[in-house]
Amino acid sequence: MGSNSFGRAFQVTTWGESHGAAMGAVIDGCPAGLEISAEEIDAALARRSPGRNQFVSPRKEPDRVEILSGLFEGRTTGTPISLLIWNRDVKSQHYDGKVLRPGHAQASYLDKYGRVDHRGGGRASARETVCRVAAGAIAQKLLSLWGIHCLAWLCQVGDLQAASVDGKWEQVQQAVWTDPLFCSDPEASKQMQKLIQDCSEQGDSIGGLVQLCCWGVPAGLGDPVYEKMEALLAKAMLSLPASKGFEIGEGFGAAQLRGSQHNDPFGSLEGAIRPLTNRAGGTLGGITTGLELMARVAFKPTSSIRKTQSSVDIEGKPVQLQLDPTSRHDPCVAIRAVPVVEAMAALVLADALLLQRLARVE
Ligand SMILES: Cc1cc2nc3c(=O)[nH]c(=O)nc-3n(C[C@H](O)[C@H](O)[C@H](O)COP(=O)(O)O)c2cc1C
Repeated sequence: MGSNSFGRAFQVTTWGESHGAAMGAVIDGCPAGLEISAEEIDAALARRSPGRNQFVSPRKEPDRVEILSGLFEGRTTGTPISLLIWNRDVKSQHYDGKVLRPGHAQASYLDKYGRVDHRGGGRASARETVCRVAAGAIAQKLLSLWGIHCLAWLCQVGDLQAASVDGKWEQVQQAVWTDPLFCSDPEASKQMQKLIQDCSEQGDSIGGLVQLCCWGVPAGLGDPVYEKMEALLAKAMLSLPASKGFEIGEGFGAAQLRGSQHNDPFGSLEGAIRPLTNRAGGTLGGITTGLELMARVAFKPTSSIRKTQSSVDIEGKPVQLQLDPTSRHDPCVAIRAVPVVEAMAALVLADALLLQRLARVE
């Protein structure tokens, strides 16, 4: 059983390993006639890229997409879209494969498959997320035809929190995309930068929280009961490497509230019945309410750290692991996870939007 495909109507299959020749995605189900270019996909990839600044992994990948099929004269044809991204900056000598890195996936893959391409984390590496972002750029373009915009930002690093965000998506996007950490709050970002720098200098890493907001989502997306919108988003986000928690709306905070504090009162908004507040996070009964989708994703601290750690080799012999000091890792994976969270949200919504066309005859 493979498990490398995602979505039902807008279906994406990804392939490739961190230190293999290339990474790729095939999108099946994208409607014909969508105008899209390699340059638009590259712009999304550039935000996910390593080597962008001192707060992310120094691996240098140009990440230019080649569109091999499904596009003719600048528009999708309705046939499978095949995307290819070459791996250029591979340094496999940093990984001997004999010692297990605590917090990484080599041991689990060995237990499951009996063999593993351990180089750079292989298939478990966040390198795989380049495919999600490439496919997500096409989904975002599709969604923009309906006025839907998915945006994510870094809202917490360690115990440092950004101020909450209010505003139109264009303003928030401008602030987030120009910040080196993709944080919405420039003051908090400066403190976060210092914390990440300190952790990095100590050979350590730090966790973080990513906020997602999707504007312009129509009411009615998501299906009862196993394909609820929040379940789809949770699956999308928890399929990301290093993600450890997902919340929608008030999330875990809802457990501390009373009904009178948590209920969103209904009222009339532009001629439609809508909740007037959004503690639910944009869904009720698993179906979107017409308000913004609001969710958060928690990312653990990067497992590959330069501090000495206790582990074992693949024979089970105890080892004190000291990573090659020149090996390249993100000090805080939540930063580069921001465009990936956005991409996954776009894939979920593009799928749900196409499926919604099957839901009723009138
Ligand atoms: C954007 C992003 C970048 C990442 N960069 C690194 C990294 O540089 N080094 C590392 O050890 N793990 C990194 N990870 C996390 C690992 O891929 C992940 O922890 C590992 O595959 C084990 O899976 P799990 O944490 O989901 O259980 C990154 C994750 C994301 C989302």
